[in-house]
Amino acid sequence: MRILSGIQSSGKLHLGNYLGAMKQHIELQAENECFFFIANFHALTTVQDAKVLRDNTLDVAIDYLALGLDPHKANLFRQSDVPEVTELAWILSTVTGKGLLERAHSYKDKVDKGIEPSMGLFTYPLLMAADILIYRSDLVPVGKDQVQHIEMTRDMAGYFNNKFGREVLKLPAVKLNDALIVPGIDGQKMSKSYGNAINLFDPPKETRKRIMSIRTDSTPVEAPKNPDTCNVFAIYKLMATPEEVAALRKKYLAGGMGYGEAKSLLADVVERVLGPARERREKLVANASYVEDVLVAAGKRARSVANSVMADVRDACGIVVSKQ
Ligand code: TYM
Repeated sequence: MRILSGIQSSGKLHLGNYLGAMKQHIELQAENECFFFIANFHALTTVQDAKVLRDNTLDVAIDYLALGLDPHKANLFRQSDVPEVTELAWILSTVTGKGLLERAHSYKDKVDKGIEPSMGLFTYPLLMAADILIYRSDLVPVGKDQVQHIEMTRDMAGYFNNKFGREVLKLPAVKLNDALIVPGIDGQKMSKSYGNAINLFDPPKETRKRIMSIRTDSTPVEAPKNPDTCNVFAIYKLMATPEEVAALRKKYLAGGMGYGEAKSLLADVVERVLGPARERREKLVANASYVEDVLVAAGKRARSVANSVMADVRDACGIVVSKQ
């Protein structure tokens, strides 16, 4: 099965990225042909500082490798190493109605939050569809916030195939895991742009402080508490062992436990899961040329797959590119 997914290099990665997406990516690498890329063209819709974008792009690669992505098993590359995606995005834009893009939730959310909409932000789903379709991907593992984009991708593949009368583009399926939408410290979706994230690799003290500031309700210490409406428990159950989750659930229901105790247990589990990755991360930071080599080699493999699909796309729609 060919698996593909991407993460924007728009800032520090957080628990939502890991639990919703990267964890599944790393699990899938053992038995599938995997393509995971750093969406730096997409990040340009929000990061418009060359040094910051370059640094963020390398940082996402380092985070992936630190968390367990194995470059011998999965292709980890930069989106911009396959520039043909922008060509395919253009071609898709010619068969896609503007109304489809106007219905995109994530675009509407960003505009509602006061973000000035550039054309790049508006046409974001076209580039994302191109990212997926250019590798004839079977499955796209993402968090729930991306599901509509995958549905739009399927629509766009259908428009192209229908218009040109050939099954050139493959319709991908979405893959979700238990972490559909990881809440941030304010209970909304954890997001780089909402200021509510728990970052993966902040110093442990800072992470603990952040966890202690997760919003909870005002149920008194003695009273029983509902684990299923609690933001702390929502994250805990995605990271702790089943026995630990059952034990904490019991404590919530029994009463006599303050939220501070639950937060402290969550901070312990987060450190247990991420501590070893932080150590690997430090070694990778000191070995940036190794990381660069990984990206370059995988970028070449990805581009070669993309070029063979693009040859079919161009042939189907009549675009001729002279041999240089
Ligand atoms: P991005 O960079 O916002 O997020 C990367 C991945 O993390 C998941 N995620 C979450 N999952 C659960 N709970 C959360 N709070 C949470 N926050 C983020 C996202 O669902 C995503 O899987 N458009 C994409 C990047 C992209 C892409 C693609 C993805 C570009 N081209 C092609 C898949 C296929 C994005 O902005 O992800």
